[in-house]
Amino acid sequence: MFDNLTSLEWLGLPHREPFCVFVTPRYPTYLCRKRQDMEMATEHRRRTGAYYTPDVWAKLCVKQLLEALPDPYAYVFYDPAAGEGALLDALPEGTMRIGTTLESADVTIMREKGYEAQQFDFLTMNTHFLHPLIWEASEEGRLVVLTNPPFFRLPRGRYELMKRTYPAHCGDSVPLFLLRIDRELRPVIIASWHDIGLIQSPSFSKFREEFGVMERLLCPQILTPSKTWPGVKGNFAIAFSIWAGWWTAPADYKPLKP
Ligand SMILES: C[S@@+](CC[C@H](N)C(=O)[O-])C[C@H]1O[C@@H](n2cnc3c(N)ncnc32)[C@H](O)[C@@H]1O
Repeated sequence: MFDNLTSLEWLGLPHREPFCVFVTPRYPTYLCRKRQDMEMATEHRRRTGAYYTPDVWAKLCVKQLLEALPDPYAYVFYDPAAGEGALLDALPEGTMRIGTTLESADVTIMREKGYEAQQFDFLTMNTHFLHPLIWEASEEGRLVVLTNPPFFRLPRGRYELMKRTYPAHCGDSVPLFLLRIDRELRPVIIASWHDIGLIQSPSFSKFREEFGVMERLLCPQILTPSKTWPGVKGNFAIAFSIWAGWWTAPADYKPLKP
């Protein structure tokens, strides 16, 4: 169903199959709730946007990602909202995996798992301070971002500089993550979980246009029921998309100074 990256003319986006969305089959809920031991206090979760990708979804999204990558060992995988590294865990053994995240306790856990890990606030800090391997891979066209960014409304004040730099993020954290990933890191692939509003809500139309949400889709999207995500309330779809990464920054875009 999916073409290899090497043979995809993804800059021109000509010869792909028509986009189709596939909804995941009925996975038993107990499989998805296996990580309930990681339940966090509601206040902590609200503050950091932290919930975890259940193993079953982590494995499924990696399976789809690997369909687009002919040789995963040729790439560097980076998760800028890595938490304890649930998505990195699902990648094949021996691949180069780097995670950054907000909480220092999570950094310790990732290091214990053997990943390159760093405490980093991806929404406010200067990306120049990220691990040099990320920049090296970006330069060489080998950087793949695989992530599940926290979802919350950005409070006033702290994000003013980002709001000026990326007006299309509409005040939400996920578009801001995606815009920064795309424009500052320039990965070859951006693979991310996100809420369905990103692809259908009128309030994200400016973001969709600026990011190329529909134009750059590489694969059918995965839709999962929110009920299968530990700690997520409500009944809605949580989606996974894979985008071809190309540099879309406007000519007058200037990266943040340290
Ligand atoms: C939705 S969880 C995903 C965690 C993990 N990648 C997974 O899939 O299970 C989002 C993670 O991003 C972290 N986070 C929140 N704000 C962040 C920020 N500004 N920069 C980096 N990480 C952040 C949270 O602490 C949380 O661990």
